[in-house]
Amino acid sequence: MSVPAANVPAGAFAAAVAAGHDPRPVEVMAAALTAEATAAGRHLDNIAACVLGGLTLVRSTDPIDVVRVPLARPLWVALVTPAVRLETRTARSVLAPTLDRGAWVQQMANTAALLHGLASGDVWRFREAVRDLPVAELVTHPEGATRLYARPALSSWAGIERLLFKHEGENPTGSFKDRGMVVGITQAVRVGARAVACASTGNTSSSLAAYAAQVGRPAIVFLPAGKVATGKVAQTLAYGARGLAVRGDFDAALRLATECCQRLGIYLLNSVNPFRIEGQKTIVWEMLQDLCWDAPDWIAVPAGNLGNTSAFGKALREAHEGGWIARRPRLLAVQAKGANPFYRSFADSFRSRHRVRPETVATAIRIGDPVSYDRARIAIETTRGVVAEVSDDEILEAKARIDGAGLGCEPASAASLAGARKLRAEGIIAPGERVVCVLTGNLLKDPDAILARSPERALVEVDAEPAAVEAAIAPWLR
Ligand code: F0G
Repeated sequence: MSVPAANVPAGAFAAAVAAGHDPRPVEVMAAALTAEATAAGRHLDNIAACVLGGLTLVRSTDPIDVVRVPLARPLWVALVTPAVRLETRTARSVLAPTLDRGAWVQQMANTAALLHGLASGDVWRFREAVRDLPVAELVTHPEGATRLYARPALSSWAGIERLLFKHEGENPTGSFKDRGMVVGITQAVRVGARAVACASTGNTSSSLAAYAAQVGRPAIVFLPAGKVATGKVAQTLAYGARGLAVRGDFDAALRLATECCQRLGIYLLNSVNPFRIEGQKTIVWEMLQDLCWDAPDWIAVPAGNLGNTSAFGKALREAHEGGWIARRPRLLAVQAKGANPFYRSFADSFRSRHRVRPETVATAIRIGDPVSYDRARIAIETTRGVVAEVSDDEILEAKARIDGAGLGCEPASAASLAGARKLRAEGIIAPGERVVCVLTGNLLKDPDAILARSPERALVEVDAEPAAVEAAIAPWLR
């Protein structure tokens, strides 16, 4: 530890005590940081260790946010500034040469607790780069910390050896929407919104409803009538939101919601709200962190209203400019063939913006006039990205494979794998390239999509007799 880092907190502490003041550790750290800045920079990592002792992890310097775990007793060391220069090797000899088993186990547990604190956590783990607010103002469920999965069966089906899935269905309401919604609702509370609203194909509304319930605000959702999956309608209403089934598609519902929110002074939480996009950036950052900042070659994501595509582009730009990653992965935005306005624009080199009348089994992305078109276009252009389209059959085939591998997802989510497989077949994704597919929503969101196509005779009704069971299962065991 450098001399200033050890001395400065000691000085701050002494000054506070001399003034008859019993300082809180955070005050000592803040004073020491300011003082050290004039001499040697701002080393909160050193200062925190001095002030708190033990093993410390600095989550953020401004505001100060430090996690501390104790050290096993045999590792305690009192450091005294030596009057003579010491070699590091010699200084280290003050540590116990051996550690008994109990102390060692204790220390491993402490370190594991610290690492857990680093690896878990919600979207606010990236607070400084999402929305730098005082901790007391942050709403959290918590959300995020979703995992990456490899499934050899899916790798061989897609022809992509190095294939991973980031399962955003593991968020509290079962989709990636929670990451942006928690930031949006934090802002809604800050501005004193009396009510919140959104138009949705079902996932945004579920997320909005849950967070509105958490902070005690009324939620109003505009849903395209008859075109939202059953699980999502049920979930949205269960959390206590009030719904309007709009006669028209999602695009009409969004236009209506936008106009009504303006008229009535209700806070709109669709992805036109920039705070939503800020939260969704953490999907990419968390993935990169889990890969130790060794970026994959491609990130594949289903594309509807294009909020996520925009957020991914922004996340990659910021990660690259900040030096977190050495190069940007290429984005692959995948649309359903029947709801493909962004694909059409990509196919004509973005010469014109297209609008379509949307139709697809993947109701989450049944969108014909995506609101984040401009930002998503930048995301594709700046990542040498590609927009692909896949048919409903291709989506359902990919979903069956994902479900069958034990991962499971809703139809729209499977577009990412269907698209990656297609690009691999076309040679656009090269052999050996590393691909991460984002699974945007949980399997249970859309039970009808499964039951409508479940393989015949997968569920057979039988009499409560062993003989009937034997007859029924005989073909399954062959
Ligand atoms: N996957 C799922 C499961 C979704 O719910 C959505 C969007 C997308 C992908 C597409 O993301 O719009 O950012 O391009 N669902 C919105 C909603 C429209 O209302 O739940 P996008």
